Amino acid sequence: MPTVRFHAHGRTWDSEVPVGESILQASKKVGAPEGDACGGVCGCSTCHVYVKEGLALLSPAEEDEEDIMDKAFDVRANSRLGCQAKILKDGHLEIEVQVHEVRRRQDRRGLLWSVAFLLVFNAKYIFIATFNVIYRFTHASGATYPGTGSRLDSVLAPFLGGNLLNGYDYVFKMARPPGPDWLVTAASWGARLVYLFAWLGMAAAISRISKAWRAWKSEDRSAASVLDLLAVIALNGLVLQAFIFVALRIPLGPQYYFGTFALHVFFAWLGVDLLRRVRLAAVAGGFYAASCAFITLGVARELHYHGYDYVGWPTLRTATELTRALNAYEDTAAHTDIEFLDKYPQPLRTVRLLVPPVSGEPQRKSGGLFIHYAERDGKKLGLMIVTDLAGNPPPKGSRSIEITPLPRDWVPDPKTW
Ligand code: FES
Repeated sequence: MPTVRFHAHGRTWDSEVPVGESILQASKKVGAPEGDACGGVCGCSTCHVYVKEGLALLSPAEEDEEDIMDKAFDVRANSRLGCQAKILKDGHLEIEVQVHEVRRRQDRRGLLWSVAFLLVFNAKYIFIATFNVIYRFTHASGATYPGTGSRLDSVLAPFLGGNLLNGYDYVFKMARPPGPDWLVTAASWGARLVYLFAWLGMAAAISRISKAWRAWKSEDRSAASVLDLLAVIALNGLVLQAFIFVALRIPLGPQYYFGTFALHVFFAWLGVDLLRRVRLAAVAGGFYAASCAFITLGVARELHYHGYDYVGWPTLRTATELTRALNAYEDTAAHTDIEFLDKYPQPLRTVRLLVPPVSGEPQRKSGGLFIHYAERDGKKLGLMIVTDLAGNPPPKGSRSIEITPLPRDWVPDPKTW
């Protein structure tokens, strides 16, 4: 029976195959690192090998093979495609697998093209981002957002995942899903499992660094899997994010707007993969999925039936309702303790322009208007309402704002925005 010895990455593999089998089949039998991207149908060249001994034992190269070889890298007189070269006679073959070298060149070229595309298509973004990072490093003392996080918070933020990652805010702050207390609490804790997954994933990624490093040093890429390399790339991304977060002084809370979301999803996946080994992935993943489904569907139902009444963020609906109430008065100013309206009265004035009083309906002069949030059981709701002060002084801390409809030709003053 013909014998084949494969050489690659300083190692050898010995194989024995019957006459009529291909070099690729011989390599598969012993796990030699010969490529077969097209599945052995003469469509790629990843099975390119050099026949150091035993060339005469092989079937001659046909036209298809020569066509592919024309496009392959580093073709020599003893080059063959492993999937096409059949061993027709008994004897011994010495085969050098050069896929590593070839792939490395292809990868390098692909990488260069990818970087070039990224740079060209993101040139504007890169310029703005670079400018912002430099600006924040030199001017990061202001109270604008971002720029409000402490340096310690900011450097930890990418590793902690932000409090929006688990849906907690949606459960308790914005719209509580219907259901008994214990169910809502269980769902909120279930949603927080994402942190456990992500942190386990980070630990798993750190444990893969040594494998990736060994592969890098030895240039034997089979020493590390694709997942090892991806894990290390993701860790690098996290460190890079930490650097940017410190530069921008991004606070802990809402950080997923700034790009760690995809990384955390990847780490969470690695974490779940780790849990699989101790047969906990299904339980933990199932609990997490059920919690997220409960929160998502429950919140969607709540918003559908009761609207969005998150205090602090007036919506078009609440602004329109307030406008309709204000249309009963001819006042041009009102007091308010709603910070958003105090800072930005223009959206309300715009809605007043779009929703004018019904013609013919009389308007009355109030004894002073006070715009505030409606309350239920002593708790503020997102609904804005107006109260006639009937000559009483406005509540302490409230400020006067103009509430006339914006003129049609009004142009925003950049200084006020
Ligand atoms: Fe693709 Fe041989 S495996 S050409």
